[in-house]
Amino acid sequence: LRKGEPEFLMNFFDKKFHIKVKYINARERFIAKLKGITDPEQKRKIIGEEFIRVFEEESNRLGPFQYLAQGTLYPDVIESAGTNIDPKTGERIAVKIKSHHNVGGLPKDLQFKLVEPLRKLFKDEVRKLGAALGLPDEIIKRHPFPGPGLAIRILGEVTNEKLDCLRDADWIVRDEIKKSGLYNDIWQAFAVLLPVKTVGVMGDKRTYAWPIVIRCVSSEDGMTADWSKIPFQILERISNRVVNEVDSVNRVVYDITSKPPGTIEWE
Ligand code: XMP
Repeated sequence: LRKGEPEFLMNFFDKKFHIKVKYINARERFIAKLKGITDPEQKRKIIGEEFIRVFEEESNRLGPFQYLAQGTLYPDVIESAGTNIDPKTGERIAVKIKSHHNVGGLPKDLQFKLVEPLRKLFKDEVRKLGAALGLPDEIIKRHPFPGPGLAIRILGEVTNEKLDCLRDADWIVRDEIKKSGLYNDIWQAFAVLLPVKTVGVMGDKRTYAWPIVIRCVSSEDGMTADWSKIPFQILERISNRVVNEVDSVNRVVYDITSKPPGTIEWE
């Protein structure tokens, strides 16, 4: 999860919804399973499976439970589809772009019945539904966050050191976007960590550290997206803060690729 997120969500469920939620910090289990793994599809499958294993263990302790509820959306299903040629018409249909952890990444021996009430809806439709149900904007307007979390925003192997670095950089990106009043105009704003080192200079010292990518896109449903033309002054503030406040980072770049040909996430 991102910096501040467990606290925000637990507080939200407790104070606003009065729902008892159990928070499980399984960070080290995920890190151990991801050791040495660099392939994005493999990462997704490992995370999807480990998520279920943690869920099974906890539900055995607290349960028994029959159901697993997931917020799967229609784009997750489309992008995870494996077939690309319609056998009847010969036309191209859904192509596997990435196995969203909650669809293609689930283990075959899943012991729960899946409950996915939003599976046929796009995000903008889910937001309308949420508003009709009277849910607060704080939840409805939250930017989407992928199930495999920060692991697919760290290219290559995931380590605790890189996670800490990305959490700090990501916090600054979101903080500045919120302060600038652009949060609700942007579909997603986040940071990506590249596992290469570049040379820089700070004070009178040479640095050799990771670059951070800022990714901001506008979109209706996540299926296509445009890179956001946010003012340079905001990018400048983010860049200054990231290199000054985040250890192990000495360079910040802005991704100006739309979807297609890029995807929103880097993995
Ligand atoms: P892409 O990167 O495919 O992302 O352009 C489209 C939207 O989907 C989110 N995303 C995911 N969500 N599991 C999820 O629950 C995943 O594995 C996953 N991969 C991408 C992404 O953040 C964007 O909103």
